[in-house]
Amino acid sequence: MKAMRIHAFDGPEGLQLDELDTPAPGPGEVLVHTRAAGINPIDWKTCAGGGASGFIDALPFCPGWECSGTVAALGEGVETLRIGDEVMGFIRFPHPAGCYADTIIAPAEQLCLRPAALDPVSAAGLGLAGLTAWQALFEVGHLKTGQSVLVLAAAGGVGHLAVQLAKWKGAYVIGTASAGNKGFLQSLGCDDTIDYTRQQVETLIHDADLIIDCVGGQTAIQALDCLNPHGQMITLPSVTAAEVMAAGAARDLKVSSMRARPDAAQLHELAMLASSGKVMLSIADTFALEEAAKAHHLSAHGHIRGKLVLTV
Ligand SMILES: NC(=O)c1ccc[n+]([C@@H]2O[C@H](COP(=O)([O-])OP(=O)(O)OC[C@H]3O[C@@H](n4cnc5c(N)ncnc54)[C@H](OP(=O)(O)O)[C@@H]3O)[C@@H](O)[C@H]2O)c1
Repeated sequence: MKAMRIHAFDGPEGLQLDELDTPAPGPGEVLVHTRAAGINPIDWKTCAGGGASGFIDALPFCPGWECSGTVAALGEGVETLRIGDEVMGFIRFPHPAGCYADTIIAPAEQLCLRPAALDPVSAAGLGLAGLTAWQALFEVGHLKTGQSVLVLAAAGGVGHLAVQLAKWKGAYVIGTASAGNKGFLQSLGCDDTIDYTRQQVETLIHDADLIIDCVGGQTAIQALDCLNPHGQMITLPSVTAAEVMAAGAARDLKVSSMRARPDAAQLHELAMLASSGKVMLSIADTFALEEAAKAHHLSAHGHIRGKLVLTV
């Protein structure tokens, strides 16, 4: 089997294609021949020694926590999947999952069947960002119909799905992005859009019930002005979560951080929404597995519309 791996925490340039023996699935696991793997900011952060690197016991490390593919072998005790099933998953996070590979071993309980109407590339890119948005809005944020939601970085991987899921729930949604993404945000269903390069969101919005913060740092701290007194901000970038939460606490405002977790039932619900067209995954670009470093550079630039996906 082939896998893109780093042998030191030296960033995208360290990614190299390694030839490995194909492993066998253990109890509760399945072997999947992958068709595509999604890219997320945590991938390049981890390859540079940040992100989830604290969960890596030993190098080499193969990045990637989400993929689509075909089940090729079953481990002991697996009864929910069959050989030949087309599956998708957000797996093992934050522990290494190794999805930048043509073959992976995945926990069967973290995979769901890929709906036939959802193509393998979209299925691969849906898991991490989609479940982050889902869990932030519905589990941590307890979003209710009619509430107002402000999404900071609404055009990004998490943001563009958060906008659509909040609209699906019947919320009033405001999104921030640069001017070039205004039409994109409108196409997602945003009721209001703010160009963060020209306008300060904190001078315009003062009664948000929920803020999904995909930017962090000073941007998030300034956006606390947008919350109503009973509102809540969920800040996603872990590097600045402590300082944003401290700023919220100093003003008696509720700020939460969270880490997305694999949940196959939620992923299946999300996949059904995507396959029926109620939620759309925007694919900014696709790259061959061998081009992962190029995709990491693009992602690290911070202006991807939707998602990048590696094809196998
Ligand atoms: N805690 C967790 O479990 C968890 C899970 C997923 C992600 N995250 C973190 O959440 C953050 C967002 O992830 P992502 O995958 O959505 O990132 P992403 O796809 O890389 O975000 C790119 C988007 O950010 C926008 N953007 C950049 N600066 C902005 C600003 N100041 N204001 C508004 N928009 C801005 C860009 O829009 P323009 O091009 O218009 O500027 C672009 O569309 C990352 O830090 C990631 O690591 C955390």
